[in-house]
Amino acid sequence: MGPVRSELMWQAVVDAVEIAGSGDPLDVLDLGGGTGGDAVRLAQLGHRVTVVDPSPDALASLHRRGVEAGLARPVRAVQGDTNDLLDHVEPASFDLVVCHGVLEHVDDPGFALSTVGTVLRPGGHVSVVVAGRNAAVAARALAGDFVTARTLLGRTADTWDVRSMGPRRFVLDELEGLLAAGGFRPLAANGLRVFADLVPSAIVDTEPGARDALYALERLVRTSPEFSGLSAGLQSIAHLDSEEAPPNPGGNSATL
Ligand SMILES: C[S@@+](CC[C@H](N)C(=O)[O-])C[C@H]1O[C@@H](n2cnc3c(N)ncnc32)[C@H](O)[C@@H]1O
Repeated sequence: MGPVRSELMWQAVVDAVEIAGSGDPLDVLDLGGGTGGDAVRLAQLGHRVTVVDPSPDALASLHRRGVEAGLARPVRAVQGDTNDLLDHVEPASFDLVVCHGVLEHVDDPGFALSTVGTVLRPGGHVSVVVAGRNAAVAARALAGDFVTARTLLGRTADTWDVRSMGPRRFVLDELEGLLAAGGFRPLAANGLRVFADLVPSAIVDTEPGARDALYALERLVRTSPEFSGLSAGLQSIAHLDSEEAPPNPGGNSATL
């Protein structure tokens, strides 16, 4: 097993694939897929993967990673973002959209999720991972920065200005509210990295068995609301409600 943090993030992708599919290869869009760590592993499992990301450097790394992995079917890599997604991919063409670590950075997360709804096939799934606000409050307080902890506590995702405040942070209710407004029904919620970002790496890297034990502990508490509310990453896996057409992404986005 690699570093616990990255293994937990990969396992979140695996969890989403298990919920979204029946074992057959899926058409997967990794939106904001970055350097392609997840995308290449998904392609190695036989899925047909597209990455859309605005960073040319990240896409170049993805290309190198795919070549090194000797993929039978390369990942399709497209430079784009949540705003121009429909210029690059067909509507209703994916079974699963993975959107991990992206809504923290976009101007309008509601708009982004509405757009995701348009590229999913009816009944398709989305897996969203966002940074948890409570974890940031706890981390600042534990570091003795009580003023910043209190400031963060008073913020909400919908009033968060990413330009002046840095990456947006969420609580689960906010994320699930955005998903519902985008036409999704949340199916599963997981807390990712409840302890992994807090425990000193000296312990994890040097104590025999610590890495496996931490991984097992994280997997155990991820569905417990008491613990997952404090996790550094919040995952929601949701289903596109095919009874309801998703809202027009060009229209007004949802507010929380
Ligand atoms: C923190 S990285 C996450 C990468 C990857 N999804 C992961 O989980 O490891 C955020 C990624 O989002 C991309 N990004 C930023 N703004 C975006 C947008 N508006 N639409 C799509 N991707 C965006 C960045 O280029 C970067 O690759």
